Amino acid sequence: MIERAAELLARAHQGLVFTGAGVSTESGIRDFRGPNGLWKQYDPYKTADIRYFMEDPTRYWTISRERWRTYKQAHPNPGHYAIAAMEEAGHVSAVVTQNTDGLHAAAGSRTVIELHGNGSQVVCLDCGGREPRVDVQARLETEMPPRCRLCSGTFIKPAVVFFGEALPAGALADAYAHAATADLVLVVGSSLQVYPAADIPMEGVRAGAPLIIVNEERTPFDELAQVVIRAKSGEALPQLLEKAQQLAGA
Ligand code: APR
Ligand code: ZN
Repeated sequence: MIERAAELLARAHQGLVFTGAGVSTESGIRDFRGPNGLWKQYDPYKTADIRYFMEDPTRYWTISRERWRTYKQAHPNPGHYAIAAMEEAGHVSAVVTQNTDGLHAAAGSRTVIELHGNGSQVVCLDCGGREPRVDVQARLETEMPPRCRLCSGTFIKPAVVFFGEALPAGALADAYAHAATADLVLVVGSSLQVYPAADIPMEGVRAGAPLIIVNEERTPFDELAQVVIRAKSGEALPQLLEKAQQLAGA
């Protein structure tokens, strides 16, 4: 499996890597739908849906206060570093991620498109005011739900896309443009169940790019893939990169 995938990666010069929460679980951040997924514990539509948030921001912030602790101390894992090295080696031109943890950039990836935003900033839905997420975390013990520093509104949320919210138009257009010209699509750690994000790898397949999926569980796209690697991304990606570099150097 890895050999076949390494041949495809070695030949690629404009590969698109598409990642989901699975690429960050080895950094200590829970995914959503895997065996220990967040949505096995909480109802996603009562936690990260904009309509429920507006009804009662406390529900969301109570969970986010805990989750932030793992986010804050998370570091990139060998999977993130391997993806950054694939870009450095000229096989990959962009990483499109559904993750909001900033770990791809922290690992050195340069072209990172964050379809679901980034959790490091908090934005006020009333006045548009923004502040660092770490500052809001500091007052969550005494201020729940947290209030906007500028207008005292209680509808402040991390600058991430909730269910029921539109994706950032620029990021989505950028992701489609990369997918349409990709000569390889490498999906890592995503259940490929959430749209429109999951249509990005599909766009690459429609444009004729070969598809590799590295995921611990089955996905709806497995039948479309040239190669499916059922493994941990933190283990499989460094091996994949090493074999591709041997072939490219051969
Ligand atoms: N290596 C490989 N695969 C892994 C690993 C790992 N170390 N850990 C988990 N996985 C797999 C899981 O088996 C699962 O199939 O990664 C996949 C993660 O899927 P989800 O938890 O559904 O995450 P994701 O696809 O990113 O979800 C998309 O849903 O809740 C929304 O906005 C949220 O961005 C998220 C979106
Ligand atoms: Zn405000």
